[in-house]
Amino acid sequence: EIGWKLEDHPKLPKGKVVAVVVLDGWGEASPNPYNCIHVADTPTMDSLKKGVPERWRLVRAHGTAVGLPSDDDMGNSEVGHNALGAGRIYAQGAKLVDSALASGKIYEGEGFKYIKECFEDGTLHLIGLLSDGGVHSRLDQLQSLLKGASEHGAKRIRVHILTDGRDVLDGTSVGFVETLEDDLAKLREKGVDAKIASGGGRMNVTMDRYENDWGVVKRGWDAQVLGEAPYKFRNAVEAVKKLREETKANDQYLPPFVIVDENGMAVGPILDGDAVVTFNFRADRMVMLAKALEYEDFDKFDRVRFPKIHYAGMLQYDGELKLPRYYLVSPPEIERTSGEYLAYNGVRTFACSETVKFGHVTFFWNGNRSGYFNQEMEEYVEIPSDSGITFNVQPKMKALEIAEKARDAILSGKFHEVRVNLPNGDMVGHTGDIEATVVACKTTDDAVKMILDAIEQVSGIYVITADHGNAEDMVKRDKKGEPILDKNGNVQILTSHTLQPVPLAIGGPGLLPGVKFRKDVPDGGLANVAAMVMNLHGFEAPNDYEPTLIEVADN
Ligand code: 3PG
Ligand code: CO
Repeated sequence: EIGWKLEDHPKLPKGKVVAVVVLDGWGEASPNPYNCIHVADTPTMDSLKKGVPERWRLVRAHGTAVGLPSDDDMGNSEVGHNALGAGRIYAQGAKLVDSALASGKIYEGEGFKYIKECFEDGTLHLIGLLSDGGVHSRLDQLQSLLKGASEHGAKRIRVHILTDGRDVLDGTSVGFVETLEDDLAKLREKGVDAKIASGGGRMNVTMDRYENDWGVVKRGWDAQVLGEAPYKFRNAVEAVKKLREETKANDQYLPPFVIVDENGMAVGPILDGDAVVTFNFRADRMVMLAKALEYEDFDKFDRVRFPKIHYAGMLQYDGELKLPRYYLVSPPEIERTSGEYLAYNGVRTFACSETVKFGHVTFFWNGNRSGYFNQEMEEYVEIPSDSGITFNVQPKMKALEIAEKARDAILSGKFHEVRVNLPNGDMVGHTGDIEATVVACKTTDDAVKMILDAIEQVSGIYVITADHGNAEDMVKRDKKGEPILDKNGNVQILTSHTLQPVPLAIGGPGLLPGVKFRKDVPDGGLANVAAMVMNLHGFEAPNDYEPTLIEVADN
């Protein structure tokens, strides 16, 4: 029996409007030409930093502070928003898969037994992101799974690769495919019929999220399941090299291709009786494919053929939908999140972002759980994202529309918490387009201003933070921090997130004058924010939450 009732905070009042603003991909770094936040005109965020020193600080947003295997792991939106919403640090997918593989437990679970049932007569298909980015998947985990599956009886294996260039440098896909080909060749020497069967760039093929564009998933389906794609190659290394050259697409956007045999037949369509594993551990960009693979009733695109397969996810991707039913590793059991507590304790919440980040402030915030806790207490608004474009051509995205919705929600008097994600720094940062990212940062700042103005009007409180770094550093650096040049003398553009800490600012007319950041939580991270937000709503956080970051002096 969970006691949902929160204790009253001894000093802080209830009923204030608290705006919680997450700037996606907005880290803190020293000023330099590749720091787009520094280059951009950002008077609002600057004024917070230069304002009351006790109300601005940095928090950790990467590595062990957010449940990742090591402090060499950059932060990401899933783990960042999980931590912000849950107020505790959970060992995350990356780490759970590492231990399940290391101990061999992965091969003893229900999920693996289920796919193993197909090993005698069927093919094992592995679909996922091929890189060592560690955000959605990791190459070494795929390698270990390939080896383990073949040792456990898989005789015919087909890998369907998605090239990255978003969590890792663009152009690295070639090397990852070469490594995978080496491994598959070794398996073939041992008598396992193992090959790459299809591929495509992650943003063009399969890895859409939050139902922004089902066409992306369909392109993957056609290649992976039907064995059909606009490009056919005999070999995957050649496929990636040629497509980069001839279509000028980068790794993220490679078109779909299939690998064919000497007769031009696809080497690995997914057929009745096969087993399929999606080897990404991260949820958001696997949910749509999981639905297509698992749901009998499905109308998002014409699947043409719906093979009878045994399908398992690396993890279960949606705890509420129980999707997929079978999985190799149990996901972190994120429960009793702050959103659920607040709903029980009379705090009315409004959450909003545009499609590409909508699930971040709902699904991830609520512990990878879709839907409302209590619809009477919560309202979630999704603003449709532009689809079919790369966001460097539209760097303002829908930030101002999100801010308008937040403003209206703040002024409506209907909500105590107004939570938004402003996507620009991250989504534009991932394109590697520096000029566009500067525009993205300025727009984010304008949106923050609109929200702060509304908070001013209702005498509310604001909490401004970010989920991880991205736009503050757009260049790959050596150990000394100097930009790395490629063979033509150009800097290597960093499309990925960073290891930087993120800012945390609090304020607003509703914040009692004595409220300031404590000095005794110097290593505080994103998980410490939840307890603080509960305090700002007039409650003490549950005992097992990470400690709050604020104290209230009597003055
Ligand atoms: C993506 O999925 O877009 C990137 O791999 C990570 O970005 P996010 O963690 O900011 O969503
Ligand atoms: Co990102």
